[in-house]
Amino acid sequence: VKRVFAPKDMSGKKVLISAGPTREYLDPVRFISNPSSGKMGFAVAEEALSRGAEVVIVSGPVSIAAPAGAKVVPVESALQMKDAMEQHFEWSDVVVMTAAVADYRAADLKTEKQAKVSEHISIELVPNPDILAALGARKGQRVLVGFAMETHAGVERAAGKAQRKNADFICLNYPTREGTAFGGDDNQVTFVFPDGSHEDLPRMSKREVARHLLDEARKRMQDSE
Ligand code: CTP
Ligand code: CA
Repeated sequence: VKRVFAPKDMSGKKVLISAGPTREYLDPVRFISNPSSGKMGFAVAEEALSRGAEVVIVSGPVSIAAPAGAKVVPVESALQMKDAMEQHFEWSDVVVMTAAVADYRAADLKTEKQAKVSEHISIELVPNPDILAALGARKGQRVLVGFAMETHAGVERAAGKAQRKNADFICLNYPTREGTAFGGDDNQVTFVFPDGSHEDLPRMSKREVARHLLDEARKRMQDSE
C-alpha cells in the first residue's frame, strides 16, 4: 500500500545511520569483510528524508546509490566508522546502526603485499571496538536502534545486545530466509526490547521495515506527544 501523504513527523529531527559492511585490511590489496549491501540503511535514510528529517549516512563500501538529500560520509574500517559516528553523534536525535561491523581487524596491518607461501599461515586478529555500545554509553535523550542477525536463540541474544549496548531496541533478522537480509530487497524482522519483549513483523520491503522502525523510534522521542 503506497502512502500518498507521508507524514512529516520527523521534520527538524537529525537521523544518523551507519550502513554497509566494514573492510579490515590485511595488506594493501586484501581485506576481511562481509556481504552487507547497505540496502537496509539506505532504506532507513530514504524513509527518514521523506518524513522531513535531516540524514547523515556513515557508509562502508557499497555499490548502491545513496538517496538524494542525505549527507554521506564514506568509510572503510570499523575504526574509521567509529570516528565518523562519534563525530556526528552530538548532532543526532536518532541513531540507527544497520552496519555489519567486522568484529575483528588484523593485529598487524602489513604495508606491503604479502607473497604466497606454501605452508599454512595464521593471521592474528584483534577485536574491534563496539561502536553501538560506545554511543550507548553516552546516549542522553537520543533514540538508539541496532540490528542483529542471529542463527539461533535470536530473541534472547538480541535482548542481551539491547541491554549491553543501551539500545532502545534491536531489529533482529535471520540469514536463512529467502529474499531477505543480506543483499535482498525484503526483510523480516522482529523488534526486540531490552526486557526481552518483542514484536514480530511479517516479511516486507526494506523500505516498509524502515517505516515501522521509525514509527517505533518516533514513539520513544521526547516530543512524541
Ligand atoms: N555493532 C557495532 N560495533 C561492533 C559490532 C557491532 O556497533 N564492533 C553493532 C551493529 O551495527 C549492530 C549491533 O551492534 O547494530 C549488533 O551487532 P552484532 O554483530 O549482532 O553484535 P555483536 O555484539 O558483535 O555480537 P556477535 O558476537 O553476535 O557478533
Ligand atoms: Ca558482530
